[in-house]
Amino acid sequence: MSTTTDNRRQVEAAARETLGESIAELIEKCRRDPRPESHLIGVLHAVQEQFGYLGEEQLDAVAQLLQVPAAKVAGVASFYHFFRLKPRGRFMINVCMGTACYVKGADRVAAKFSEELGIQWGETTTDGLFTLEGSRCLGTCGLAPVVMVNETIHGDVTPEMVSSILEQYLRQAREDATEKR
Ligand code: FES
Repeated sequence: MSTTTDNRRQVEAAARETLGESIAELIEKCRRDPRPESHLIGVLHAVQEQFGYLGEEQLDAVAQLLQVPAAKVAGVASFYHFFRLKPRGRFMINVCMGTACYVKGADRVAAKFSEELGIQWGETTTDGLFTLEGSRCLGTCGLAPVVMVNETIHGDVTPEMVSSILEQYLRQAREDATEKR
């Protein structure tokens, strides 16, 4: 067996280990297509679903297994707003910026979250607890302005309610930490 084939196998094995078997299998299926790169966005969605974000290591592994240039994979991942390139916090705060929420003051709610947490859109607090993001309509316009924290919807949110919403999740984090001790 040639050294090149040997190296290729090692690189592929490392990439498979990075991404896990189910994603590696998905990529293998995509590679049977005459245009494997047309599956790139779908593969990146699957990777983000599994890891919560797209780190450099995962992007390189996708490039290796899908056999698409690493620069192209990185370019697609950074181009689309729905891909996250950094780890997300334990609590994902999505402030709806859809029309119904916006006209009812979502921008002021967002500014208050940003001020209280000391972060901007897309950033995560240094303790890894909160990530702040804006989102399109969350489908509950009757409750505008709406904020979703992980899977929980908070409706009719005002800037004055922001501290107590955050406190609720901080308390949860503290309780979980106590239980683990
Ligand atoms: S616009 Fe915010 S939930 Fe629809």
